[in-house]
Amino acid sequence: MREVAVIGAGITKFGERWDTSFRDLCTEAGIAAIGDSNVTGEEIDELFVGSMSAGRFIGQEHVGALVSDYVGLGGELHVPATRVEAACASGGLAFRQAVASVASGMSDIVIAAGVEKMTDVGDATDVLAGAADREWESFAGATFPGLYAMIACDYMHKYGLTREQLAKVSVKNHHNGSMNRYAQFQNEITVSTVMNSSLVASPLRLFDCSPVSDGAAAVVVCPLEIAKKYTDTPIKVIASAQAGDTIALHDRPDFSTLGATVAAGNKAFAQAHLERKDIDFVEVHDCFTIAELCAIEDLGFVKKGEAGKFTEEGDTYIGGKLPVNTSGGLKACGHPVGATGIKQIWEVVQQLRGEAGKRQVEGAEIGMTQNVGGTGATVVSHILRRD
Ligand code: COA
Repeated sequence: MREVAVIGAGITKFGERWDTSFRDLCTEAGIAAIGDSNVTGEEIDELFVGSMSAGRFIGQEHVGALVSDYVGLGGELHVPATRVEAACASGGLAFRQAVASVASGMSDIVIAAGVEKMTDVGDATDVLAGAADREWESFAGATFPGLYAMIACDYMHKYGLTREQLAKVSVKNHHNGSMNRYAQFQNEITVSTVMNSSLVASPLRLFDCSPVSDGAAAVVVCPLEIAKKYTDTPIKVIASAQAGDTIALHDRPDFSTLGATVAAGNKAFAQAHLERKDIDFVEVHDCFTIAELCAIEDLGFVKKGEAGKFTEEGDTYIGGKLPVNTSGGLKACGHPVGATGIKQIWEVVQQLRGEAGKRQVEGAEIGMTQNVGGTGATVVSHILRRD
């Protein structure tokens, strides 16, 4: 297998983007990534687009072809384009497909994009519920806030996590988002903002939830051996792992451990030949505050049951023992579901290039991502290193 590097990254502002469309969001991110990578359209061999539910959010299928056409790769260049779907892990999986395509020798220059336009429909909650087991969870009334609330209840019961500790995840992520000009929410909040926000699914409140968002992100990958032709700062992909689990939460032996995160994390560390202590920062899938705590435990950074205390002590802040979600995470940066996994890679690239501005992790050399589909039926994890 060939070694693979990221040579370009682009993103749009995340948020309620009434001013633009699905195709324009993806075009904006794609063109930004291509410009950043210094490749020409003629050099691009393949395109992967992560989108969870364009069919229900905007009534558009055949998304790979649409994006390829609008980004200028379809018509004359006839670049092959493939849509990738794994619910909220669609973006992470699109990146993994791009990496696999280059590593195998099938293609040289590949774009991985992620996009979602969620705010044009009134029933986003029901669309998202399609990422769970429709027959056994969603038809019974379970929504995503409801499912993650069950995880939170189980976790609090087992490990004595307090409501305040949970709120601190959101406070930290809003702090990081305040330094990210692409974030949906760029305002600082306090624990009392979270505690006094409306109850969504007990114990989760409005400020424990990622929002409904529009946005897109794209990255360009190529073989490491030719990366220096395009950029002085190639970012090497040193692990690309994926793992699965039961689609329904109720079929798992332990609600508050995401088995697929444990498996994907272990595979990623084995591929990269690294230990947990070698990771400088991590972007994890905090679709709800409880998910960030489970993620840093299940990836092996913190002992099970101790992530609340770790967060409360400020260890997940930039400058702390393990900076988590420097982009603002899904909570503050926003969660256009298909785009999130690529946004995580975009953030790791900014950090490893030393271009993250006020939210820069000093001396960052190795970053990790964890992108979750559903309540953990798909988990994709990557480790990247400054070359
Ligand atoms: N955090 C902070 N503020 C939020 C917010 C969030 N998650 N979601 C909405 N808001 C704000 C809006 O900006 C708006 O503020 P304004 O009145 O100052 O303009 C206000 O709350 C009402 O917004 P609205 O869109 O009506 O909220 P809502 O009640 O319809 O939706 C949630 C709130 C939490 C139900 C919705 O964001 C949600 O379902 N989130 C989870 C998404 C999800 O499940 N993703 C997949 C995860 S795997």
